[in-house]
Amino acid sequence: MQGEPLTRRSFVTTVAAAAASVAFGCTPSATQGAQLRPSSPEETAPTTKLDDDNPQDTPQSSTSGVTKAPTVRLSSGFDMPIVGLGTYSLHEAVCRDSVASALQQGMRLVDTAHIYGNEQYVGEGIRASGVPRGEVFVITKLYPNQFANAASAIDEALEKLGVEYIDMMLLHHPGTGDVAAYQAMEEAQQAGKIRSLGLSNWYIEEMDDFVPRIATPPALVQNEIHPYYQDHDVVAFMQDRGIVVQAWYPLGGRGHNAELFADEALAGIATNHGVSVAQVMLKWNLQRGIAVIPGSSNPDHIREDASLFDFVLSDADMEAISALERGEKHDWY
Ligand SMILES: NC(=O)c1ccc[n+]([C@@H]2O[C@H](COP(=O)([O-])OP(=O)(O)OC[C@H]3O[C@@H](n4cnc5c(N)ncnc54)[C@H](OP(=O)(O)O)[C@@H]3O)[C@@H](O)[C@H]2O)c1
Repeated sequence: MQGEPLTRRSFVTTVAAAAASVAFGCTPSATQGAQLRPSSPEETAPTTKLDDDNPQDTPQSSTSGVTKAPTVRLSSGFDMPIVGLGTYSLHEAVCRDSVASALQQGMRLVDTAHIYGNEQYVGEGIRASGVPRGEVFVITKLYPNQFANAASAIDEALEKLGVEYIDMMLLHHPGTGDVAAYQAMEEAQQAGKIRSLGLSNWYIEEMDDFVPRIATPPALVQNEIHPYYQDHDVVAFMQDRGIVVQAWYPLGGRGHNAELFADEALAGIATNHGVSVAQVMLKWNLQRGIAVIPGSSNPDHIREDASLFDFVLSDADMEAISALERGEKHDWY
């Protein structure tokens, strides 16, 4: 995106006009494929709403029988699946096989990062899956120790992933040189190396400071969100500005989630719907309009995490989960 650097006022005006109500997967029929569509003048209006007005809200079953997740239109004009596989702590063959399994079971988004040390295996998993590259939405991130050499770090990510373009690149968290690194991502977007830009671990103060200094508003913010850390204010702040929010640690985080999985309120809701506690946690996020990237190396878990579109949490369920808020962060970012 070209143009004068946005002031905070013009940023807010621009994206607030595009902000929409957000509720992913509230209607069981609101499912669609993960077609990536370049922006055109008619298509660039970002919408975070899935409803009957959107002709792409058509259910699509994968060959495995799992319904592909709906997509959300980003402010960049591209469509992003609202469910995908997280790959933190997955390495080498485990990473490759998990990515291939997720794609074969209908997922169409994979989240990785330079710091995970697995971009190469994510790329191998995509190719091993047999799913065409154009159907897969790949997210990776620049770590602060790459900010000073962001342009070459972007090329390195492309090479490791073995792809011609990255669907979404994020700055992993704020750090020295983050504005210049974002500007390098903007240049790479102009060059066709990256399609959409975003941030991770940015909150309200950080947005207020950062956004007036960049030209292209972030299309996505990826932050820690789970039933014990719900971050309502930050989520509302982003969504009001047309920025899609994506939850990392949507199940509480690997090694941090035993208490959540044993939570009686969540277990009761799961039993009532005939689904798992993991599915309840993920669907709660979707119904708040928050995309999810659960991490798993277990094909049965991945299948479960992809199967979120044949049940709907009631208002009472949503309120019961809201009441679990503890402000309990499971990582430091
Ligand atoms: N931007 C950031 O700063 C940041 C930070 C952290 C993470 N992330 C991203 O967010 C993703 C998600 O975080 P995470 O993977 O650490 O944690 P998570 O998704 O909250 O939880 C993953 C854990 O849940 C288990 N699990 C997954 N599905 C399950 C199911 N259906 N039933 C039972 N257990 C299940 C996994 O074990 P199994 O392998 O046995 O299924 C694993 O132990 C990461 O993979 C990464 O891509 C981003």
